[in-house]
Amino acid sequence: MANRQLRIGTILHGASGNMSAWRHPAAVVDASINLKYATSVARKAEQGKLDFLFVADGLFINEKSIPHFLNRFEPLTLLSTLAAVTEHIGLVGTVSTSYSEPFTVARQFASLDHLSGGRAGWNVVTSPLEGSAKNFSRAQHPEHALRYRIADEYLQVVKGLWDSWEEDAFIRNKESGQFFDASKLHTLDHHGDFFQVQGPLNIGRTPQGRPIVFQAGASVDGRKLAARHADAIFTHQPTLEEAQAFYRDVKQQLVANGRKPDDLHIFQGVSVIVGKDAEDVEQQYQTTASLVSIKDALNYLGRFFDHHDFSQYPLDAPFPDIGDIGQNSFRSTTDEIKEKARKYGHTLRQAALEAATERPKFFGTPEEVADGLQRWFEAEATDGFIIHGGTPDTFERFVDQVIPVLQARGLFRSEYPGVTLRDSLGLSQPVNQFSQ
Ligand SMILES: Cc1cc2nc3c(=O)[nH]c(=O)nc-3n(C[C@H](O)[C@H](O)[C@H](O)COP(=O)(O)O)c2cc1C
Repeated sequence: MANRQLRIGTILHGASGNMSAWRHPAAVVDASINLKYATSVARKAEQGKLDFLFVADGLFINEKSIPHFLNRFEPLTLLSTLAAVTEHIGLVGTVSTSYSEPFTVARQFASLDHLSGGRAGWNVVTSPLEGSAKNFSRAQHPEHALRYRIADEYLQVVKGLWDSWEEDAFIRNKESGQFFDASKLHTLDHHGDFFQVQGPLNIGRTPQGRPIVFQAGASVDGRKLAARHADAIFTHQPTLEEAQAFYRDVKQQLVANGRKPDDLHIFQGVSVIVGKDAEDVEQQYQTTASLVSIKDALNYLGRFFDHHDFSQYPLDAPFPDIGDIGQNSFRSTTDEIKEKARKYGHTLRQAALEAATERPKFFGTPEEVADGLQRWFEAEATDGFIIHGGTPDTFERFVDQVIPVLQARGLFRSEYPGVTLRDSLGLSQPVNQFSQ
């Protein structure tokens, strides 16, 4: 761990900022469905030598969903387009293992890896929202533990399919007429509890050996899945101490699974605001926070609890006891919200506004923001960050003003080390399970 390098990605999330950021004077009003905007963020990230651009996703909306979720691009379609207009930035997209087929998804991410010259990453999620079942012809949403059992087998299948072809399997000799070497083609023939998949995959081994696997989900089962299968985790821990505990736990689980601690990078998702001085930063925060109404905030809070209707409770009474609602949804997030409300004695109004207009974890001058990131990194609270601009114009300032500080301190690269996302992340090339 001596020469640890800080890793930084950014998340493309509508106009960037809170749920009402589309109303901000600097916002691109249709950012969620605007290719020009997405391209400009990807190029800006590349200018800052960032590791990757991250696209989250969901599979169920209703009229209470936040504006960004109502009208947005499907991640793989968007990332395939961005692959054509960028050269270095990693392209990480979210796809659910609860509502898709391993063969299709293995093929799609393999295609993105080929199309982008080795820059594809898959954020594996199990889908928190119960309503998703209604969009996929299912009688019910699988419960939390079952979703993770499915995800585990799913990842075994996808990884097996990605090993269908050895790297040099395609000979394409015009003279001899030999197109491929049959000894380098492998048929998975998987028979499991949830999936029956013969294979092989109809696309060759990818530039990265296989795409990078991210996992987002911080519960006990989520961490277990990541320790077995993932190259990176996307999480958010509220405090430095909690992040350190999370970090230690995941790294220990990696070792218990026969992997090395640096085989998997932990990324804390953090919101930032960069300004000239404290007053400027506070003003930026207040301008953005004031866009969120209490009605919006209640809806925002409710979504984590399976779109629970919080408008039925008194706003200024203590946070209501809602029992286990949300346990089968965003479990780690709902636990955190309830715990915070209890710890600080928040009313419902305070808890809702706190969730919907959370103060950025790192804010201040470029040096102060860099100090915060450096502190978390050096304290082994994280291996890197997924930066979420606290206002629509933050990300540009982050790249122009904070990245140079991190570079000057020797914490972050000034050039890309190679061509693939795997190169950027310093992860080793995977060995094909059939050719060992
Ligand atoms: C930081 C973070 C980001 C997530 N991003 C997504 C996402 O983009 N789409 C999604 O369907 N679920 C997302 N999830 C939800 C998880 O995939 C999972 O379905 C849910 O949170 C329950 O898992 P957990 O209790 O292990 O956190 C995210 C979870 C975390 C912690």
